[in-house]
Amino acid sequence: MSKYGKKSSKELGLEVAALGGRHFFNIDHLHYGYWANGLEANMANFPLAQEKYTDFLLGHIPADLKTILDVGCGTGKNAKRLTEMGYKVDCVSPSHYLAERTREILWEGNEVFECEYEQLETTKRYDCVFFSESFQYVHLVKGIEQSVNLLNEGGYLLICDVFRLARVDKEGGKVIGGGHRLEKFLENIKKAGLEKVVDEDITAETAPTIEILDEAMFRVGRPALEASLEFLHDRHPWIMGILNWKYRKKLDKFREKYIGDRRTSDDFKKYKTYRLFICKKI
Ligand SMILES: C[S@@+](CC[C@H](N)C(=O)[O-])C[C@H]1O[C@@H](n2cnc3c(N)ncnc32)[C@H](O)[C@@H]1O
Repeated sequence: MSKYGKKSSKELGLEVAALGGRHFFNIDHLHYGYWANGLEANMANFPLAQEKYTDFLLGHIPADLKTILDVGCGTGKNAKRLTEMGYKVDCVSPSHYLAERTREILWEGNEVFECEYEQLETTKRYDCVFFSESFQYVHLVKGIEQSVNLLNEGGYLLICDVFRLARVDKEGGKVIGGGHRLEKFLENIKKAGLEKVVDEDITAETAPTIEILDEAMFRVGRPALEASLEFLHDRHPWIMGILNWKYRKKLDKFREKYIGDRRTSDDFKKYKTYRLFICKKI
């Protein structure tokens, strides 16, 4: 839920992706794939590439941690694997649907806070605050401040996510959305007194995901949306009229964003950087 109590379109999109992904493609995660060691980039390999991403991430958990807060836990799959590794894990999810899916696979002792991270209030403190492709959704400054407050001394903020490179704005071109500006992020980490101990660039390994998702939108999402709109237009023209009148801008934006221009991994590499950051509270 957004702070206004309404589901945001991003949140709705993630819930649809979680539902459709599981139903049509056997996908249980909501993050990119990690394409390395010759793994061919195609839809059939996407679930495996997502598991490889989780393997990569979990292979970087700093030593001697006991408690982890998984922020924006998605379907809870990362959290589940963390509990299997012996960590005590709590989660944050603003989506009721995703929070429920997470509760289904975790034990009762693992608390799932159902709210936006920026609004989370708890007296608990953690050895690690963990963001797997969810940092881009939280407010940059508030997200870092909240993490510093929730971390024990010597604890770690771990973020694996997309960031925007500065040249995006200068060229002013149409680019794939999402991600905080990298330089602003680095500035704010420094201001918060966090020490960057890991900075690993996995843009090349994650970029093939763009073409996989683009292909799925082009072959499935676009025809499905166009067919639904055509059906409405033929059968219930008055509903279509209301939709066009009330939501024209939103519909156009959605079309442009998801089914307009094709997206390529080359554009992604040019304008974005996918990074794993681990920062220590000192
Ligand atoms: C791309 S999904 C990643 C999910 C999961 N971490 C994964 O690796 O599969 C982004 C997640 O961020 C969550 N999210 C969005 N806005 C948030 C906010 N303000 N606070 C906490 N989580 C948020 C969404 O509900 C979703 O679970």
